[in-house]
Amino acid sequence: MAQINPSILSADFARLAEEAEAVRGSDWLHVDVMDNHFVPNLTLGVPIVESLARATDIPLDCHLMIEDPDRWAPQYVEAGAGSVTFHVEAAAAPVRLAREIRAKGARASMALKPGTPIEPFEDLLPELDMLLIMTVEPGFGGQAFLDIMLPKIRRTRELIDKHGLELWLQVDGGVSAGTIERCAEAGADVFVAGSAVYGAEDPAEAVAKLRALADAATADAWWACGH
Ligand code: DX5
Ligand code: ZN
Repeated sequence: MAQINPSILSADFARLAEEAEAVRGSDWLHVDVMDNHFVPNLTLGVPIVESLARATDIPLDCHLMIEDPDRWAPQYVEAGAGSVTFHVEAAAAPVRLAREIRAKGARASMALKPGTPIEPFEDLLPELDMLLIMTVEPGFGGQAFLDIMLPKIRRTRELIDKHGLELWLQVDGGVSAGTIERCAEAGADVFVAGSAVYGAEDPAEAVAKLRALADAATADAWWACGH
């Protein structure tokens, strides 16, 4: 079944516990950490992740858009994140970092910006629990979905199948009722949605609707026969 991860970037930061409650039934809560260096925006860090982990039962999916994740990512596992994503463009030693995240007890995930190809990282995939393909330039919520990322999603799904991996394939950026089916058809199975969830009248209903669309599209998809 498709997993839907609401992004709290589009939530009210002064009411994060209630905003988590508003998306009850979601698989993960997506937490965007931005340092104003790797991306031109600044959000939150370890202390807020620690508090949020205590305030909600929904596991935290931390997406680190920061420089030097080799140094900082392990602290997000200690803060209570169930999944930690670092950007390969920023990591000095991605394999070592993925192993450290796993050893500390979280799922290890690696993100690719739109301009970063998947092919050079084929051999790294077994070290990961999830791969994140950005479908916008990271930094801000509410941007338009980049259709030109669909072939990369498809090629990544082919690599996952070729190696028989259990790897989850996440998409993030511009995912909405209008774009989620294309992502699912191409091979994604974990969907981040910020504005499409928190901009809706009823965020929990928006999550359920996105999941239904993704599940229906997956059922007909080339890659998912028997999934
Ligand atoms: C953007 C963030 C996304 C963002 C997505 O850099 O990584 O997680 O919250 O927001 P929407 O779904 O509005 O594009
Ligand atoms: Zn994100």
